[in-house]
Amino acid sequence: MKPQDYNETIAYIRKYYSDTPEVGIVLGTGLGGLVSRIEIEKQLAYNFIPHFPISTVESHFGKLIFGRIGQRRVVAMQGRLHYYEGYSMQQLTYPIRIMKLLGIQTLLLSNAAGALNPAFKRGELMIIDDHINLLPENPLRGHNLTDFGPRFPDMSRPYDPELIARAEAIAATAGTRVHKGVYVAVQGPNLETRAEYRWLRQMGADVVGMSTVPEVIVARHMGLRTFAISVLTDECDPDHLEPVALEDIVAVAQATEPQLTHIMHELIASL
Ligand code: HPA
Repeated sequence: MKPQDYNETIAYIRKYYSDTPEVGIVLGTGLGGLVSRIEIEKQLAYNFIPHFPISTVESHFGKLIFGRIGQRRVVAMQGRLHYYEGYSMQQLTYPIRIMKLLGIQTLLLSNAAGALNPAFKRGELMIIDDHINLLPENPLRGHNLTDFGPRFPDMSRPYDPELIARAEAIAATAGTRVHKGVYVAVQGPNLETRAEYRWLRQMGADVVGMSTVPEVIVARHMGLRTFAISVLTDECDPDHLEPVALEDIVAVAQATEPQLTHIMHELIASL
């Protein structure tokens, strides 16, 4: 993407929305409930925003939503983009760059993930404390845009410790069980084999999924405060692996979604 592209995208958005959003939100598969808590002020379809990724069939509903949650101004991506859909890493993370240029300081993400840690169960939540990137391409590869951030960004604490502590306190007050651990990002779209689950667990991951890490890398490159949480939709026990269908994953995500939405909502209120 060229500097001119960013300017054109921002100029288009600014025709319709002139306020400064403080918080960016990216919601995972089956986890769109937080959107219904936004007092919506403006919605822009991805298809009409210059240089935004052209939506694939699955995410043709993609919209950028501007509004308020309590006192906070937010911008939410309705319609997640995944690497397995065919986007390049630059396309996939372009909206995160744009949200930063619009003014956000904090980025909140959710996703559906499989539980590798045998102590973690389907339908529970895990706050992401760290990640392992197994995706085949890095969004920062190529010419570094120094206006956004350094060539070699630090990743010692990609997920904001203070936001993690606050989310844990919110969950405890609500009586919601939350774990904390390591998310490993894989390309997909197939789920993993038993041998792959065994290997991912051995390398130190607690959950596995197909998103989030590219957005977090780009967010940290730009110095955004980042928080992410996984809904555990299936148990990846290599010795007792059952076939999993996408419908099962979406059903578990939707059943757990209210607890996730509560944590995100209170976290935004606390900012
Ligand atoms: N593997 C990868 N991605 C996933 C899984 C899984 O088991 N469950 C939900 N997203």
